[in-house]
Order: sequence, then C-alpha cells, then structure tokens
Amino acid sequence: MPISAKFFETFGAEPEVIAQAPGRVNLIGEHIDYSDGFVLPFAISDVTKVAIGRRSDGKFSIASVQRPQHKVLVDTLTPKSGETWARYALGTVWALGVEGGFNILIDGHVPVGAGLSSSAALECSVAVAINHLLGLGKSLEELARITQRAENDYVGMPCGIMDQSVSLMGHKGFALLLDCRDLSTRDIPFDVASAGLELLIIDTQAHHALVDGGYAERRASCEKAVATLGITSLRDISVDAYIARKAELDPVTYLRGYHAVTEMKRVIDTVDALAANDFERVGRLLNESHRSLRDDYTVSCPELDEAVDTARAMGAIGARMVGGGFGGSAIALAKSSLIPTIKEGITASFGARGFKPPRFFTSLPSEGAHVI
Ligand code: GLA
Repeated sequence: MPISAKFFETFGAEPEVIAQAPGRVNLIGEHIDYSDGFVLPFAISDVTKVAIGRRSDGKFSIASVQRPQHKVLVDTLTPKSGETWARYALGTVWALGVEGGFNILIDGHVPVGAGLSSSAALECSVAVAINHLLGLGKSLEELARITQRAENDYVGMPCGIMDQSVSLMGHKGFALLLDCRDLSTRDIPFDVASAGLELLIIDTQAHHALVDGGYAERRASCEKAVATLGITSLRDISVDAYIARKAELDPVTYLRGYHAVTEMKRVIDTVDALAANDFERVGRLLNESHRSLRDDYTVSCPELDEAVDTARAMGAIGARMVGGGFGGSAIALAKSSLIPTIKEGITASFGARGFKPPRFFTSLPSEGAHVI
C-alpha cells in the first residue's frame, strides 16, 4: 500500500508532503567528523520515507509502518520526550523550531542497528519534508546542522555531522568528500562496477552495549588531545608534527589522536587513488583504516574483525568496519565474481564462532534526501 494511503488509514486525512532520505556507508574517514576532518561516505539505496500533514491542535502524532501498534502522541516537545524510536522525528521538528502540530508516518527501509544510519535517514526525511511544507527555505547545510542538533540535544547521542550531511547531500554515482569543518563538498566518482568490483556491506548483527558510552569517550579523548596540544582541532596538525609531540600526551590519548590524524590522511589518499582508478591502493587504505580503528581507536569488536579478516582471506582487496563501531557493519571491496564465496566464507566463520548469522547488502551510491 502506498504511504499516502497508509497515512490516510492512520490519521484520517491526506498527507501534505512526502519525502525520503537514504542511509549511508562510509567508504573511509571514520571517527573524524567530530574532529573537523574530511570524510568520504556515500548515500545507499535504502531509504526512509515520511508522510506529513499539519494538525490544528498543536500536538505531534507519530506512527510507523513497521510498528503498527505504537502510535505516539506528544503534547509539547522537550528533549527526550516520546518513545525512543520516535525521538529522531520529534527531535528534528524541535530543532527546526517550528510551531506544531504534525501527523508523521514513517516507512523505514534502512536496516535498524546495522550502522547504516537509519537514524540520520529518519531525521533528514522529516527535515526535508517540513522545510518544503512550511517553505522554510533552509539550505542543505543548515538542515545538516539542525538534524545533528536533533540527535545531539533531543535524542542525546553526541554524533558528528557526517551521517546527516551525506543523507542530505549525497548524489547518485558519487561518494561525497565532505569537509566537516565548513560542510563544503566535492562529488567523487565511485564506479567500482566498471572495474569489475563490488562493495559488499556485511551487517554483523552485533550490537555491543559499549556503543553510547564508548563513542562519547572516544570523542572526549580527541578533545583532550586538542586541548593538551593547544591546537584548534586534529585537522590542524600533520601526522609528522603529531608524532613529534607524542611525549606531551598520555598513551591512550596519543593513540586516539594518532588514529584521527592518520585517518584524515587516508581519506585524501583514497581520493587520489580513486582518481587514478587504483583500487588496489584503495583496498590497502581500507585495510589500514580497519587496523587503526581496531588497535589505536579500539572501536572494533570480534564480529567486525572476523568479517574483515575472512573477507580478506577469501580474496577481498580491502575491508574495514564502518560507522561508530562496537558492532554494526563492515564493508569489503572485492571482484564481483568473488562476492558469493566471500559471503559463504563469512557465514561459515560466524557459525563456527557462535555469532549470529550476518546479513549482506550491496548498494551503489544513491541520491540524497528529497521530496517525492
Ligand atoms: C556514527 C556517528 C557519525 C560518525 C561515525 C564514525 O555514525 O553518527 O557522526 O562519527 O559514527 O565515523
């Protein structure tokens, strides 16, 4: 049933606007968006759709096609009000600072908990829909900052700006080189198919409890490195200059910052490698990114390491964990002909280690959020 019909069934009125926004995978540039780095994600083909209509009583009602029993009604928006799943939508309305009320129906097809940014997809679809419906005229950069604020201050997750930016600004066929300092972007052609390759997304189905605390703790370490070194951000120091100042930092803080400064360099090197169609080099950079996230930043987990190691052992030219870590997804770049073997190998190795069975996706770079 189309979302407009579902909306009518749920709220007894026609929706006034329908919009969609995609999830993302990050090719490279992990855990550096909150350190003003460059990142290289792309929007995936899985999207969240929302249908929205105004209400005259100033209230907010949220329903989800995926949770038909759970219609949420909220009188006023204050951070953390509403059920957890509804907060991403409510928080976005709150961060937009608009007068209520609204009926909002969500139809989400970005796998939840897979590290593919289903939350950003939801926030961005609501933001684009209301921006259009009320003629707010906000730019995509403004909407990225607003949706990040929704997640930081309403939901309470101290995320950076990458996921929302690429969900809003991604383009079909391109990875998005995003400067997280000023949100300027460059579209980087990402056509692995023409090189006979495919980017496999492996959802480990693991969700470790560390997620929230671990993320905030890593962020705090980067801030500590910046404060101790007396610099504006980790963006403003070269790898060599950082290494030269090792003695000024405690060992853990040093390693966290070392991940950040080297990962920033790897993003730029990946852009160069893509421009030269040098996918072997891209693969090496993905591998090095994973090593850094596992050993220096310590945000990987046994399931992610197993997926990455097995993919490589079965012939992938590069693989790494993506997103915040402690579970979620990994990516593997491999010859298309090897993908079935890699999937089988990972499924078998997960079985042997007693992990939940993994899920596999693949996606070409897709279009960012828009009204439909
Ligand atoms: C999560 C956050 C992003 C980013 C990544 C790690 O997805 O939402 O802002 O920090 O983790 O790169």
